[in-house]
Amino acid sequence: MSRSAHPAGPRHADVLPEGHYSAPPADLNQLDPKVWARTVGRDERGVVTVGGIGVDALQREFGTPAYFLDEDDFRARCRAWADAFGKDADVFYAGKAFLSRAVVRWLKEEGLNLDVCSGGELSTALSAGMPAERIAFHGNNKSEEEIRRAVEVGVGRIVLDSFQEIVRVAHVAQSLGKRQRVQIRVTVGVEAHTHEFIATAHEDQKFGIALAGGQAAEAVRRALSLDGLELIGIHSHIGSQIFDMAGFEVSARRVVQLLADVRDEHGVELPEIDLGGGLGIAYTSDDDPREPHDIAKALSEIVTRECEAAGLATPRISVEPGRAIVGPTAFTLYEVGTVKPLEGLRTYVSVDGGMSDNIRTALYDAEYSVALVSRTSDAEPMLVRVVGKHCESGDIVVRDAFLPADVAPGDLLAVPATGAYCRSMASNYNHALRPPVVAVRDGEARVIVRRETEEDLLRLDVG
Ligand code: LLP
Repeated sequence: MSRSAHPAGPRHADVLPEGHYSAPPADLNQLDPKVWARTVGRDERGVVTVGGIGVDALQREFGTPAYFLDEDDFRARCRAWADAFGKDADVFYAGKAFLSRAVVRWLKEEGLNLDVCSGGELSTALSAGMPAERIAFHGNNKSEEEIRRAVEVGVGRIVLDSFQEIVRVAHVAQSLGKRQRVQIRVTVGVEAHTHEFIATAHEDQKFGIALAGGQAAEAVRRALSLDGLELIGIHSHIGSQIFDMAGFEVSARRVVQLLADVRDEHGVELPEIDLGGGLGIAYTSDDDPREPHDIAKALSEIVTRECEAAGLATPRISVEPGRAIVGPTAFTLYEVGTVKPLEGLRTYVSVDGGMSDNIRTALYDAEYSVALVSRTSDAEPMLVRVVGKHCESGDIVVRDAFLPADVAPGDLLAVPATGAYCRSMASNYNHALRPPVVAVRDGEARVIVRRETEEDLLRLDVG
């Protein structure tokens, strides 16, 4: 049965996805460190804290719904990635996961680079002082204006995504009297999913230039022939929320083969390869993400081995983790408004946000965890569906979870691992006001993206 069909009627046992926990966890009050930000715990009252501040105090000061981001955790993850890859590799944080000026400053301080994929992300990066040479510019349909700005400010690389773009970027660079460093994004024929990869016709998508049929080789030929471009390497991104390294292995092997072909044809060894982002995080206790150190080791071993076999010097590797850095660092705090038990089925717990602050459950059938965070409870576990306040029944935040049976209006719930692709994909559906992002560190909380106001909404409505 397709879960996205939202069937009416079946009992909860029928709709729990395969492999989903079917029994409640032993202790609902316990917080699994795998899914919660590093400084999250409970205080002596049983109230959950982050950065030493209780969620009750956070609600009083910032309201709900709101995203609370553990700054120490964010910085620690940046350092872990930078250390794991070392000085012979580059880590580009993928800004699409979540970008704000504070984040840009943290990245800058922790020594990371930044991947942006729009003029808006580029502006955010530049306005917070990220040096242009540490920025990579992505996108399958960059506008002429975006390209011009990127070249003018001197971004470190533009990742070319199509044959048309090779010519566009070369033309803009030449007209500005510049030579732009570029990579070519290739599709390697690997389709990566969360727990598997299927080597199918993944070329059937809008991104990149296919390795198949000699297309990528032709793109390299053209890029090398144009004065406005300095081709520094090949880029591949195979997907998102991936746990299995096998997809990266196939991808790296195919990219290295292209480097060998380029050397054979042009006598040029391209110095860099970028293996993209996509490393998975734990949304529930069932997920087992890898540590950056393991990932770095696995990737560099694959690339080194393949290069040795092809007689190539090992290129400089770069990666673009987004979710793996910011995802686990934040949770969304909600207040319960209504509780609707359906005898023999499940209980609907409505919170004061929903699909406008987390579209991932509705859009991807994403799974999340949830906890009662304003108190502990000894009540029995109860199967719940946490839903939002929007005008449609697909407005689900957490499809299947257990909460204490005494959960009641006024309780605070938190959904962990919402740092990536929640605020950045938030909408004003039903004229909801997008929640703030509050960074918490060492007993201090500060707003880094403020809550929208009705004035903000009306400002765009010119009447
Ligand atoms: N590099 C490139 C070229 C990408 O396209 C992406 C993500 C990344 C890096 C970062 O991937 P990450 O490490 O964050 O998985 N909205 C979806 C995810 C879309 C990802 C798009 N590209 C979601 O909420 O799951």
